[in-house]
Amino acid sequence: MAAGARVDLSDAIRAALTETGALGATVRQLASQLDDRPGHVEAVLAELHDQGRVLRMGRGLWMLRDYERLAERPDFVDPEEFVERFEHESGVRLGRYTGPITFRSNERLPVHRWWPYVQGFSADFVRGILDTHAVDQGTVLDPFAGSGTTLVEARRAGWRAWGTELLAPAVLAARVKTDFELDPASLARAGDRMLRRAARRTSSGALPFLRETRRQFSPRALAELLCLRDALPVGDRPVDRALRLAFGRVLIPASRLHRSPCLGYGRRTDSAAPSPTERFRAAVAEMGDDLRTLGSSRPGWGPRARVAARDARDGRWPADSVDLAITSPPYVNGMDYVMNYKVDLAWLGYVRSYRELAQLRAAEVACDNLPRAETARYLDPAIAPDPWLPEILERIRDNVRRKGTYRRDDMHGIVHRYFADLVPVLRGVRAALGPGGRFVLVVGDSLIAGAYIPGDLLLARVATRQGFSIESVEVARSRRSGQRRSFALRETVVTLRRT
Ligand SMILES: C[S@@+](CC[C@H](N)C(=O)[O-])C[C@H]1O[C@@H](n2cnc3c(N)ncnc32)[C@H](O)[C@@H]1O
Repeated sequence: MAAGARVDLSDAIRAALTETGALGATVRQLASQLDDRPGHVEAVLAELHDQGRVLRMGRGLWMLRDYERLAERPDFVDPEEFVERFEHESGVRLGRYTGPITFRSNERLPVHRWWPYVQGFSADFVRGILDTHAVDQGTVLDPFAGSGTTLVEARRAGWRAWGTELLAPAVLAARVKTDFELDPASLARAGDRMLRRAARRTSSGALPFLRETRRQFSPRALAELLCLRDALPVGDRPVDRALRLAFGRVLIPASRLHRSPCLGYGRRTDSAAPSPTERFRAAVAEMGDDLRTLGSSRPGWGPRARVAARDARDGRWPADSVDLAITSPPYVNGMDYVMNYKVDLAWLGYVRSYRELAQLRAAEVACDNLPRAETARYLDPAIAPDPWLPEILERIRDNVRRKGTYRRDDMHGIVHRYFADLVPVLRGVRAALGPGGRFVLVVGDSLIAGAYIPGDLLLARVATRQGFSIESVEVARSRRSGQRRSFALRETVVTLRRT
């Protein structure tokens, strides 16, 4: 490339990056916009980088150094500004929650470790909330029950525990984990029988419908997993469900995938790693050990938990029947649970086609994989369920328009729909709670398309229109934005009170 052409391209790249602002652009996007070869664009970006004019964020997103600090942009409303507004308008000052909050602290805990759910919260956190709001023979509800952290701890502490959850493998985990009566000896026998059945199998059954199954597993692991799957009991007795859970737990560790927290390729195959069968045997043995440990606290258990495989937005529970609700809803555009657990869904036979996968996704609380038709009614920011939202939604919409190419052009509709999705859940929990009952939520904020979204404060505000008062908002920890690693987000405990 001639020197003049390089200067022109350098100017053109800087102009394009000024336009995309804090959203940045990839080499491919710039090349297509400037009608040049990606190799040229990359070379010029490298020069600009050496001159300290541009920087590379995360996985290949380039932006002008001027936009490094979002807070320096005139149109950026930063987290502190929202906090001040919130405190002023609600009269509630943000506090601090100290103590564990993430699932990591559960990974070695009996029962909780049966199905490591990265998206779950801490058992100690739940225990603390239960102790703080203790009610004799009370009832606890978790509308987004996930793997059942709330339900396990509630039952262990003597509460009646109710939950709803959409994701079938999580429902399975919650049901098995709250089935404290499961006999460890029967489980061990059923596990042995299943392994004998699997060993006798000579041919493998059909692959799950996912197109990339062969890429996800080594041929050896795949063959072994198919034999295990086909040897699973077909019934729905507690012991059958437990074996299904143990099998589900083996899938990702036995694959070339990892979940950290999103599903992706990258696990190195280690010839010394345990085989799927060894992993399965270890999982069943661990369940047995934990059930024996649990048995010693039997007199204190609450009644059997109820876990409904249902959309939390349709949740109808008897009025005034619940003393305390604890949950962690999906975060604003935080995670597509269905896609993240598609391997489990497919192998366990809960979903049998891409069509069914799409149907399930449409029922999830909104995230950016939501089918486009589902945002059509949410494209008008003016009708959003909180007065703060129109301005935020317009900012997202304008940022996406300015950038020209973004993952989707209806991002503001997705964020709008997220809060709209939470309204019926709040309403349902409100109706179920007795007077003065608390609803404790762990929720996070987000950065989307270069706009900051105080998801925790917005949720608290939306709740005040559904018959709650805000009792406290406590920041529990900070976490990194997926979109921009240098931007600190937070995780917050919001406590609402039924008015
Ligand atoms: C943050 S996780 C909850 C994790 C849980 N606290 C635990 O410790 O395992 C949020 C959950 O909401 C579920 N979810 C998403 N949309 C839902 C809906 N419409 N109805 C019920 N559950 C839903 C997801 O599948 C996910 O399990």
